Amino acid sequence: MDKFVIKGGVRLNGEVTVSGAKNAVVAILPAIILSDGVCSISNVPQISDVNICIQILEHLGAKVSKLDDKYIIDATKIFKYEVPYELANRMRASYYFLGALLGKYKVAKVPRPGGCHLGDRPIDQHLHAFNVLGAHCDLVPGGDIYCKADRLVGSTIDFDLVSVGSTINAILASVRAEGTTIIENPAKEPHIVDLANFLNSMGANITGAGTDRIKVKGVSKLNGVDYSIIPDQIEAGTYMVAAAATKGDVLIKNVIPAHLEPMTLKLRNMGVHVEEFDDSVRVWVDSDTQLKSVDIKTRPYPGFPTDMQPQFAVLCTLANGDSNVTEGIWDNRFRYVDELRRMGADIKVTVKTASIKGNSKLLGAPVQACDLRAGAALILAGLVATGETSISEIQHIERGYERMDEKLRSLGANIVKKNS
Ligand code: EPZ
Repeated sequence: MDKFVIKGGVRLNGEVTVSGAKNAVVAILPAIILSDGVCSISNVPQISDVNICIQILEHLGAKVSKLDDKYIIDATKIFKYEVPYELANRMRASYYFLGALLGKYKVAKVPRPGGCHLGDRPIDQHLHAFNVLGAHCDLVPGGDIYCKADRLVGSTIDFDLVSVGSTINAILASVRAEGTTIIENPAKEPHIVDLANFLNSMGANITGAGTDRIKVKGVSKLNGVDYSIIPDQIEAGTYMVAAAATKGDVLIKNVIPAHLEPMTLKLRNMGVHVEEFDDSVRVWVDSDTQLKSVDIKTRPYPGFPTDMQPQFAVLCTLANGDSNVTEGIWDNRFRYVDELRRMGADIKVTVKTASIKGNSKLLGAPVQACDLRAGAALILAGLVATGETSISEIQHIERGYERMDEKLRSLGANIVKKNS
């Protein structure tokens, strides 16, 4: 298995370009099933979750061609409605094929999804949304979820809690339903808005995405369209933290600064300079600056994103003082802490909060990525640690970060990918 090997101590300097958003593209690719025409999608990140989505689409009967970062996809002649386990099990977003197949063909069979191990990850809210629209969903032998509907009729879906995936699946299943669907208590992440914009460009009638109430007026036809995926705000945030942690000076290009607000605010609180331009941000730290400690609590957007929690935890180990990071979304998103302790971090975890001692002198060590963002955090720790850090299980990282080693090397980092 491949690993990243990093020699720490380099201040990052230069420019890096952010790729398309993983959590937008893994919703938009399945949504192409809803179209009656051919779609071309650009700014697609070259990550393994995208490869899996493409393999699933081709398995279902879609025709896919690729030109650089653009995919041309004809899903108008799909003839299968079942997603195979060996593909679905490799990522969380495979369950979006439930909403898309149900929304177009009123039948779908998808294995319970895989993805990062962050604690309990139920799908009751997804199934609630499908049931409200008139679908019957059962867990059938083999661990698959089977959904079928004679008709999908618009109604009010009131979520018990804010859920990105459930909101996306509710939109996918209702966009071609009869009548109007109201989605109460939806998630408001940028990738929800990107999906709605994509579907509306095909001729859907979705209003309120990004607000506390989404209205979906069902339509009977959706045209093919050319569409570009929004930049990945979590990838951008990860490079912002990399610049801050190494006390470097980095221009991060192809971003939407408004999507970075929660991270920008916390970085500025810590004494990091963040200068915003139209589609880029410059992040730098004066060499004599002592980063200030900070308290963080992750919440649904526009709160501080849970997907930036591990990365900021690393930054907090370097601050002058103690910080508290509270995980408000997932039951178990501190599995990376043990790996940071191996590098000299002093962190105590009680249920939902990590109490992080500052002024740590991180030391290089062999560590293991346990999920996507935890792996990215270990890379950040390796960039600042004294000595060599080797990170194994990097397939987790490559699910959501395009060419992260190359991008960091272009900023001066001493990082290579080795086959272990
Ligand atoms: C999406 O996961 C993201 N994944 C996650 O990013 C992200 O951490 C999460 O949203 C929160 O922002 C993708 O978009 C592919 P949720 P999702 O439904 O949709 C509970 C990354 O690193 N819940 O918003 O699975 C759930 O247990 C990944 O890019 C239910 O109880 O998250 C959690 O506590 C990791 N029942 C909370 O809601 C349900 O039916 C939020 O989960 C669904 C969710």
